[in-house]
Amino acid sequence: MRRLVSMIKFLVKYGKYFPAKPVEVARAVKEFTGTVQYLTHRKVYDHLRDYFEEKRPEEVVSSLDPVGARVALDVLDDYAAIYYDSQGRILLREPGPEPSVKTDLARDLIEGAVKPTFETLPESLLTGKRPLAYTVKGAEVRRIFAKFLDNTGYNAFRAWCIAVSGLEELPENAVVVDVGCGLGLSTRVLLERTKARVIALDPYPEAEMGVMLQAKLVGAENRVQFICGRGEELTKHVKDVDAALLINVLHWTASPAKVLTEVAKALKLGGIAVVVQSVYDASPLNRATTLFTWLLGSNVHPLRRVLEDWIRVSGLTIEKHVGYPLDLYVLRKPKA
Ligand SMILES: C[S@@+](CC[C@H](N)C(=O)[O-])C[C@H]1O[C@@H](n2cnc3c(N)ncnc32)[C@H](O)[C@@H]1O
Repeated sequence: MRRLVSMIKFLVKYGKYFPAKPVEVARAVKEFTGTVQYLTHRKVYDHLRDYFEEKRPEEVVSSLDPVGARVALDVLDDYAAIYYDSQGRILLREPGPEPSVKTDLARDLIEGAVKPTFETLPESLLTGKRPLAYTVKGAEVRRIFAKFLDNTGYNAFRAWCIAVSGLEELPENAVVVDVGCGLGLSTRVLLERTKARVIALDPYPEAEMGVMLQAKLVGAENRVQFICGRGEELTKHVKDVDAALLINVLHWTASPAKVLTEVAKALKLGGIAVVVQSVYDASPLNRATTLFTWLLGSNVHPLRRVLEDWIRVSGLTIEKHVGYPLDLYVLRKPKA
């Protein structure tokens, strides 16, 4: 119910920021979630039945990768793919047909990244190794990770983040740091939608090529600089910045609380940090997203309460929070 209210509020208030009809956004979210749930069900049913059928949840967790198995159980529960006998043992339903995907926003992501990623679900649950983890070198991993980040829906979402967070108002002499810039898609949206100078930071040196390419595509090479570094050591690289942007970065880092503390230190007094972060909660979308990114090598997304604890400890104050489609926080470094 809370989720439905958030969704309606989002559509009424923020739908206009999306370059797609609000109803299309809601449909795409549903299609992404439904496909992840279906693929989880299908793979478990076809490859891991013996590990789930007539087992108690704690037995499933102890016989497979415990983190992945816990998330997979939640996804299966949300999909009503499993039910329980009177002894609390799991029974698996037979999977139905694959759900159809009609929106352009979701199709791109599902075909290019979700489907190939879920091929690795059985192996990842059995061994705990994630063959498509983005740190693994190889063309297939690069291609899937690129599709995961560069797809119609995600790009629309990034544009929404900039508009909703107020970063568009930054003046020409402002400096914004894009922490965990990845392939440079968050950097690009900052260059396109603000007048500020952008420092793009990522621990992987390969990221520089992507950042420079994206900057070139929008004719803004002279406003961008790449720094190879970790968010946990941000103040070694930048100080007194006007703003920071972190789009889905914290669950990829070794120490998210430290990253936020460093972001707070790197900001000017009164500066803002925009943190867009998938959280782990009871929502089917968030659980599906977590399983998907876990397969690509991330940690499990933080509980919202944990994320807000990290924020509190960093000394930043929450100025705005939007809870759908992902959690977006506008945080301020107090002036005194
Ligand atoms: C899901 S990608 C998001 C990329 C980008 N923000 C975007 O919107 O496309 C997460 C990024 O976080 C980076 N990352 C991982 N560990 C990090 C750390 N300790 N500090 C900063 N970034 C990190 C990864 O290299 C990856 O590029």
